[in-house]
Amino acid sequence: MHTIEICVGSSCFVKGSNELVELLKNYLAENHLEDKVQLKGAFCMGQCAKGLGVRVDGKLLEGVTISNAIELVDLALNEVL
Ligand code: FES
Repeated sequence: MHTIEICVGSSCFVKGSNELVELLKNYLAENHLEDKVQLKGAFCMGQCAKGLGVRVDGKLLEGVTISNAIELVDLALNEVL
């Protein structure tokens, strides 16, 4: 099982981390990945000034925004799946 962690810290919440959770749930469903990838909440990842905090299998993604999140997660998942 692979893991996507999404920061639930206050800075990320303001930037839309709850919306990101919904986008990722849809992405996993559309790609039939729900049995292979789990979503988890996590504390601040030190990305507050740069973007949304997201890790894929422990690897921190850089510069994540609501608009590029799916693309970046997709690339990261392709490396591990
Ligand atoms: S609050 Fe999300 S990275 Fe800091």
